[in-house]
This record gives sequence, structure tokens and C-alpha cells, in this order.
Amino acid sequence: MKNFKEDFPLLEKQPGLTYLDSAATTQKPGIVIDTLKSFYEESNANVHRGVYSLSEKATEMLEGARKKIASMLNAGEQEIIFVKSATEGLNQLANALGEELPSENNVVVTEMEHHSNFVPWQQVSKKKNASFRVVKYADLMNKGVEAISELVDKKTKVVAFTYMSNVTGKILDVKKAVELIRKKNKDAFIVVDACQAAAHLKIDVKDTDADFICLSSHKVYGPMGTGIVYGKKEVLERINPFFYGGNMISRVSIEKSEWAKPPFKFEAGTIDAAGILASATGLEFFYRNYEEIKKFEELLKEKLLLKLREIESVNILGHEDNNYGPIVSFTIKGIHPHDFATIADREKVCVRAGHHCAQPLMNALGIAATNRASIACYNTEEDIEKLIESIKKAEQIILR
Ligand code: ALA
Repeated sequence: MKNFKEDFPLLEKQPGLTYLDSAATTQKPGIVIDTLKSFYEESNANVHRGVYSLSEKATEMLEGARKKIASMLNAGEQEIIFVKSATEGLNQLANALGEELPSENNVVVTEMEHHSNFVPWQQVSKKKNASFRVVKYADLMNKGVEAISELVDKKTKVVAFTYMSNVTGKILDVKKAVELIRKKNKDAFIVVDACQAAAHLKIDVKDTDADFICLSSHKVYGPMGTGIVYGKKEVLERINPFFYGGNMISRVSIEKSEWAKPPFKFEAGTIDAAGILASATGLEFFYRNYEEIKKFEELLKEKLLLKLREIESVNILGHEDNNYGPIVSFTIKGIHPHDFATIADREKVCVRAGHHCAQPLMNALGIAATNRASIACYNTEEDIEKLIESIKKAEQIILR
């Protein structure tokens, strides 16, 4: 099976490195780095501003990237908004949709969310005195997405949930969730955090049918500092922007301002054109190699689970069935996650340790922290072996 390691300059330049923290950020293929470099060397100008050729070329390139991204996600071009990160996108949505949130309404999220899809909704609910309903993790595991729709009623304004947990890798059936939610309330806005899912599954916005889907490019082989918000055209036309500034208006006078059409009314300020072009390159890399990557990651995930299960002191979170992406959180009896991550680092193994910006989930599980190994297309069987050896080494050092 093809290994993609040679496409990643950082991994080629650091041959002993085992990078198992792709859920935090993926390494970048050479073609993504080249896209950034060549934009600045050959095409740099502010987009949507100049009437001179260089700016027109940069604008054309940016809009070309929008078209490519839209087509990969099965969206319309006007439905793709460029932001700095999924976090920014989710905050924008919370504030924009929060405008429509009178106090008798409620917002539904789950305990499994990353803070970026939890805190913005919690805060906007507080501001508007709306009720903030949180689906229990145990209910989500026992009942599946029915647990989400159970908390939805006619007063629900927003339902926000993750496509794939950044802690356990659990995949939610988004399409079914959307159908169930709409049966109970056809007007509630449905917001999906696809940050982790986008790196392992092909997102089809029409098929899932949510109103909004957010992702961060740096988790899908793209550069840091760019994110994508998909929004349904008719919803984007209806809601107000949250950020104000250049490029998002059609007319401004002392008395009032009128907004540009979507997506531009949500894109105030200078867009990171180089970053967006490189994001499109990263996403294309993933889509082009999708079948191979999926098979390969699945194989490595199975190997990782098998090897971890052989170690008595290791407890894996979830993964009791196959509805999980290649993100595996675990604890090692008697070893603090930070201690293990530090010992692993000495072996040049990069794993994450901590609460993974998901404290409500940690509280629900009754733990403070875990270690997390997350797999991407450049990992190898040897990486898994090295992680397992590091666990054994940590046990020798700490538990001896
Ligand atoms: N959200 C990223 C993670 O889960 C940083 O690690």
C-alpha cells in the first residue's frame, strides 16, 4: 500500500520523527508549501481590490480556489466562506445566529464538543438568556444521534455538534441527525464542526444537509490561519454578518450600510489568498488520494488498537466498534499523560497529552487528561511500533 511520507518535506528532513499528532495539525505536503511560496513570488496582490492585472490575477486565483473547494465539498461557490480558522467561523456563526435568539429559545450542543463548538454557544446563550442544552456523552453513546434530537423542541434555534470527536475519533451520523432534528423543528439552524472529519472523510454538504459546516485547513494538509465555513445559500442570504469592514458591503453612507452578496458579506478585511490557495491544494491532495488514504489509515488504526489492547495498563477511550476515525485517546495506569508525552518525545514520538480542549467530555468521563495518538496518511507501521515501545519504556521508568 502506498505510503505518502515522501510527499512531506518535514518528515523527509527528520527521518527519525514519529508524528502522531495530526488531529492537532497535519504536516504539509510539498505542493502546499510550494503553493504558498509561488503565490508570494509570482502573484501577490490584494484580492477584490485592484483593477490592475496583478490584483485581477490574484482575485481570479482565489475565486478559482473557491470553485475547487466548493466542488470538492459539493457546495455552490456562494456557499463557501473563507475565515481564519474553524474557531473564528464558529464564533462568527454563534454571534450572527445569536441575533435571532430571544430568551425563550434554546441552543443544543453535546458534551463531546471541542471548546470551539461549545463555548461560543454557551456564551451567546448566556448573553441572550436562552437555555443552553447539553446532550450527555453517555446518551450519545447509548442512543446515537437520537440523543441530540431528543433535546430539540419547537423553541430550539441552533443545534451544534461535531462530525468526529477530536478526543475519541467517534463519528456521528450527521445525515441521520439532521433528518431527526428537522422532524422536530424544521427551522432550527444546524451547525456541524467537521474539523476532524474533514481530514478522514469526504464531506458532502448536500448529502448531510446541515445549514453550516466548518473546517480548519491546517487539519487537512493545508496551512495554518485559514478555515472554511460552508453555509446554505438561502440561510446566508437571510442572516446578518458579524464582522464589518472592507469588501463585505455594497454601499455605505453616514446613515446606513448595505451588505454585499454571500459569501462576500461574511468576508470583511483582506483575505489570506495564499493560505486559501494552499488550502485548496491540501484538500485536493486529500481528495485525489482519498481511497488509498482511507484504507491505509484504517489499517494503521487497527494495528494501533491491537497493539494498545495487548498492554494491560492501557485503557482506550471508545473504539468498541468501527464508527471511529483514526484518533485514539488512551490512559496508562499509573502514568500521567504529560509524563508519558515527555518520555515519548525523548524517543522522537509526538503524541498529545491533556484535555484536548474538550473539558466537558473529560468531566463526563471522570478523567482530567489522556494521551492521544492521531494518524494521517504519512504514518507507517513503524510509527505504531515506536509508540508502543515508548509506552513500555515509560512503564519501565515510572512503574519500576
Ligand atoms: N483542536 C486541536 C486538537 O484537538 C488542536 O488537538
